[in-house]
Order: sequence, then C-alpha cells, then structure tokens
Amino acid sequence: MKRVVDFQEDDTAAQDLKFSDLAEATKIKERSSNKKQKFNKNNSNNNNKVDRAQIKAKRKEMLDFRKKLPIYSGRDAIIKAIQDNPAVIVMGETGSGKTTQIPQFIKEAGIISDTLGGVAITQPRRVAAVNLAKRVAEETVTKLGGQVGYTVRFDDTSSPHTIIKYLTDGMLLREVLSDELLLRYKVIVLDEAHERTLRTDMLFGMVKNIQRIRHEKAKNGENVEELKIVVMSATLDAEKFSEFFDGAKILYVSGRLHPVDTFFTQEPQADYLDATLVSIFQIHTKNPHGDILVFLPGQEAIETLTGLVNDYAKQLRGKQQRLLPCPLFAALPPSQQQRVFDPAPANTRKVILATNIAETSITIPGIKYVIDCGLAKMRGFNPKIGVESLLLHPISKSSAWQRTGRAGRERAGVCYRLYTEDTFRELEDDTVPEIRRCNLAAAVLSLKASGIENILEFDYMDRPSRISLVRALEELYALGAIDDTGTLSPLGRKMSEFPLDPAFSKVLITSAEYGCTMEVIAIVSLLSVDTIFFTPSDKREQAAEVRKKFLHPDGDHLTLLNVLKGYWEVKGDVEWCKENFINIRNVKIALEVREQLVRFCERLEIPPQATCGTETESVLKCFLTGFFQNTALLQPDGSYKTVVGNQTVKIHPGSAMFGKRVEGIMYNELVFTTKHYVRGVSAIQSAWLPLAAPKYFNNKAL
Ligand code: CDP
Ligand code: MG
Repeated sequence: MKRVVDFQEDDTAAQDLKFSDLAEATKIKERSSNKKQKFNKNNSNNNNKVDRAQIKAKRKEMLDFRKKLPIYSGRDAIIKAIQDNPAVIVMGETGSGKTTQIPQFIKEAGIISDTLGGVAITQPRRVAAVNLAKRVAEETVTKLGGQVGYTVRFDDTSSPHTIIKYLTDGMLLREVLSDELLLRYKVIVLDEAHERTLRTDMLFGMVKNIQRIRHEKAKNGENVEELKIVVMSATLDAEKFSEFFDGAKILYVSGRLHPVDTFFTQEPQADYLDATLVSIFQIHTKNPHGDILVFLPGQEAIETLTGLVNDYAKQLRGKQQRLLPCPLFAALPPSQQQRVFDPAPANTRKVILATNIAETSITIPGIKYVIDCGLAKMRGFNPKIGVESLLLHPISKSSAWQRTGRAGRERAGVCYRLYTEDTFRELEDDTVPEIRRCNLAAAVLSLKASGIENILEFDYMDRPSRISLVRALEELYALGAIDDTGTLSPLGRKMSEFPLDPAFSKVLITSAEYGCTMEVIAIVSLLSVDTIFFTPSDKREQAAEVRKKFLHPDGDHLTLLNVLKGYWEVKGDVEWCKENFINIRNVKIALEVREQLVRFCERLEIPPQATCGTETESVLKCFLTGFFQNTALLQPDGSYKTVVGNQTVKIHPGSAMFGKRVEGIMYNELVFTTKHYVRGVSAIQSAWLPLAAPKYFNNKAL
C-alpha cells in the first residue's frame, strides 16, 4: 500500500445523534402485551410434515426475536393508528422493524383477511422484496408462497392464499391495470417512501385516488372495502407525506442508533476506487474487529474492488485475520447475497461492497465501519435535449447520514467519508425525487393505461416540469403509443402490458412485422442482465481475445445472440463458459427472462417467428423502431453526434463497435462518467430512421 488516506474528525459530531434524539423525543407508547395468544393462533401452519413441537419451538424463537425489535414496543399504538385512520405515516430508523413487522401486526390484529383483502408492501428494489418475503415467511413459520409471498418482475411466488405480499412498486402499478381499485388489498404499504423513486411517486397519487373512489363507493352502499394506506420512511420527511395524504397521522419509532465517529478526508480524492481500497486496508490492519460496509456507485466498481481486495488480501502476512469481500448489488443472485447476511467465518473480517441498496432497504448485521465514497449512480434526464443517462452523481447530505448510520446499529461505530468536509457542506440536503429528473415516458404510459387521461393534472406529490411531461407525450406519440389527441392507441395498450420500458415493448411488438420475434426476445433478455461476460481484472486481455470469435460486425445486439447460440450448441456446458469467460449465472437468469417474455408474447398473440438466421438487418431495423432516439451519426471528424440533442458520444471500450467507423449507431444506454459513453451499440444506416419512426422523423431534417 503506497498511499494513506488522511482523515480528519468531523467537528459537527452532534449531528450523529440527530436522528435518534428526535425519535426518542416522540417515542411511541409502550405496548400492553396481550396479543400473544392471537399471534400464535393466526399463524397456524398446515405443513404437516414438520414435527409440531419443532414448529412450536421455532415460533417461540421467532417471537422472542421479534419482541426485541425496537418497533415491537409500539405494536398496539401502530395497530390502533391504522385501525382509526385512513392513512398513517410511520417513520423509523433502518433496522427498527418497520418492513418485516408492520404487515404481521396488521395480520395479527385482523385488519386484513381472506375476505377483507390482504396487504401489499411495495419496495423500490426487487432484491429487497424477495429477501423480506423470505424473512417474514420464516418469522411466521410458513412456507414462502403461502400466506407470505412476493411478486417481482419475472418472478412471482404469491398464490391465492397470500395475504402478506411484498412486491416491487412497478409490479403494483401493473396490478392496477387488471384490478383498477386494487380490491384484492385492504391495506397498501408504500415502503421506502423517502427514496422517492418515480414509481413510488406515481403510486402515491394513484393510491390516494383509489382510496377516495373506494370510500365513495362504500358510502353509497356498494359492497366495497375502504382502503387503508401506510407510508413508511427512514428519513425525516414525514410531514410532506402527511400533508399529501390530507394530514395523515405520523408515528415515530425510536431506533437504536449508537454514536458514530465520522471522519472526512483532508484532501479531495481523485480516484475513489483507489481511496476505497487504501481505506479498507487501513481499517483492516489498524482497527479492532468489526465488519466493514463500503458504499459504491455500481456493480462495475464493486466487481473491480472485489478483485482488488482479494489480490491484496493474499499479501497479508502472519497472524492477521483474513479479509473476505462480499459484493451486494441488485443483480446478484440470491445464493451470493446470502453471504452478506451470514456471520463471518472465524478469524475473518467481512468487507461488504454494496450499492445504495444497503442504505435503508436492507439491514446487514455486524457492521462497525462504514466507508462512503460519496457517489451514487443516478438516472438523469435533460428534457430540453431529450437525453436520459446514468450519471455518477454526488449523494445528498441525507443519504450521507443514512450511510453513516449503518455503522452504529449494534454498537458505536466509525464512518470514513472519502470526501472533504467542505465537499460535504456543499452537498444538496436531499436527493431530488426521480420524477423531477428522469424520462417520464414509461410513467405516463402506465398512467394512461390505468385510465388517467389528463396526466398534466394528476395529483403529483412533486409535480414534474411541464416540459418533461410534454417530452414524454411526444415520445409516446413517436412510438405510436398515443394518438394526436393524447389517447392511448391499441398499440399503446399492448405496450403497457409488457413489464418493460416502452421502447423495448415497442420492439417486441413490432418484431412480428419484421419476422424476428425469437431473436428480439433473446436479445432483450440478454440485455436485461448487467452483462453476460465475466472479466476478471487480471485477465482482461485474455478474456477479450477469447471472446473475439463471438463478435458480430454489426455490433453488440447480434454479438449477444452469437454468444447465446454458442451456449446452446454446447448445451450450457460449464467448462465452455469458463474457457470463454461467459458469466453462466447471468446467462441463466437471462434465459429465465426469455421464458417469461415468450409467454407474454403468446398471451398477446405475437407469433414466435424467427428469421432464417442470416437476416440480421431486420433485427436491427426492428430495434430501431423503439430506439430511434438513441442514435448517433458519424461526423466528418470521426466522432459520433446524437441525432436527438446533437451531443458528442463515445463508444464504450467494452462494445463490439469500439474503434469502428460506421454511418450511424444505435445504443441502449448512455453512461456519463468523464465523457458520454454509449453501451449496447450496433451499426445502422441513416436511411432506416424515417422508416423506423415516421411520425418522429418526417418533419425533421437528418
Ligand atoms: O424496515 P426496517 O428497516 O425498519 O427493518 P426491517 O427490514 O423490518 O428489519 C428488522 C430486523 O429484522 C433487522 O434489524 C434484522 O435484524 C432482521 N432481518 C433479518 O434478519 N433478515 C432480513 N432479511 C430482514 C430483516
Ligand atoms: Mg424497511
């Protein structure tokens, strides 16, 4: 280790306690413990195979665990508040038990039932939804998919018996399409509300509207249950939620936050990966035992660091304890996620390398040290030029405090911030809600599909700018999803049925005309995982060399297809994947997605045709019908400029098109790091553009 990061102690240490102080001051009242009998009764399980005594012992163990959670003392107050009010806001420190306990309280109190309807708990992230359902099934000693289940995109374990259902916010939005008043639920819990994702924000308005309609119907004597709404948040923004829900009651749960010493770097860090690596080893070699949680912006950074930590850890000598890196990001398969929660083996310190998924939605035990690189990947949209991109962005102060808090869950901890105190002071107070910064086409399409005609007048908690709404309408018009009066077209209705972004849905639907549905389904599935390649940091060149045989001259879309064909030829042979640096796990996930999309297409009567295998042009032309806005044309100086927005973009070095000069390119993703990079790139001809999107290009000169 050549360099040492110098930290300086935070002199505003009083802020460490800010959250717990406030929570303490407004602590909800003590519980009176007479609900135990009912709890046991309601959780009767019909799994006959397992010994009754064993179940009983497990129940007791679980109940003992539950009783120790900070939220348990507020059980009765929470139940009463939900019984007495149409909407309740619950605010509480991460890990206090909001997400796992409140649905169980609701069930135990009889607020939900088979006849009244169940409870839906929304999560912005699928990993969280899956994990939480598993945990609650365990706590209730029931089988996952029985009383407790989850629904996330491409994976559904819920059944008609499920009355506690964890689902992504996107999935609840889709359920509105088939169950307009969400009648299968008695309670909707909008969790992680502080994250203000686009979908949660849309749900706020929709659920509020549904509640009003159900109330009126019930008042008029119709046989409809009134809807209850619970909003849960880990930050101090409760008032805003309460205002939106007509002065809803606010409950504060006191957390257990121990003091956290906070350090800043003395100098700004030019390379956050390097600074992180140095800090990890600095803590490991100098500080007492306790696991480390590192916040990083994305999967790529996490994988790079996992490799580096492993390499350096090998060089540690003597009696020093071992260092075990555990990655954690949304696309990681469940078996590997589990390692994060398992206790470290003897004489080993875990270092968890996570995205902001670990900020509030997932609680990891054993953390004593937090390293915060101060950055997150965020979607950004510039409505003036109509370009959406993933940006590496400084986090907000409120995010920084959440990250810091993760070090003090079980005992006093330490947080190392890889930025200076001056930088911290300049951070925004709160993260700007997604609805104010991303492309709204998908949101507007689902509002339209659920019957909300006038999207400009919709009840938004934070109103998006008029220009971004108009942009979204223009895009949907160009895609053919709405007509010139703004009404949803039959194509738009079909598009809204797919669990995909509008551009992808359009491509799948038009693939029938181009006779290449099977190819398109395969490529869309392969694009749905982060990458199907596996590139160890020490074998980059070798991996690139071996993979040359898959490269298609027309770019990444068809290269992906070549890999899949190769994979099928050897029937998914593990050795073959290793030799060719293919990430077998991600290919398998992609193939599951493929199965689901095939079924979606069958349901929507899209015939499963394939080209004879040589017609690569139709595949690309078909993709262009959805991605005509993600295109750039070659300039005389050799650079590429986007057709929309006239912005210079570079082809990502990982792309099959890297270093190539073709007339035009189409891409799936625009990433901004130091330059604008495009990924998922294929060659196109400018003459294809007006054919792909006649409504869009007819009035524009190319
Ligand atoms: O929602 P909130 O952050 O308030 O807490 P929670 O997700 O309900 O988690 C409460 C506690 O349950 C955590 O502190 C963990 O101890 C435990 N838990 C767990 O062991 N495994 C999970 N998958 C989720 C929670
Ligand atoms: Mg939670």
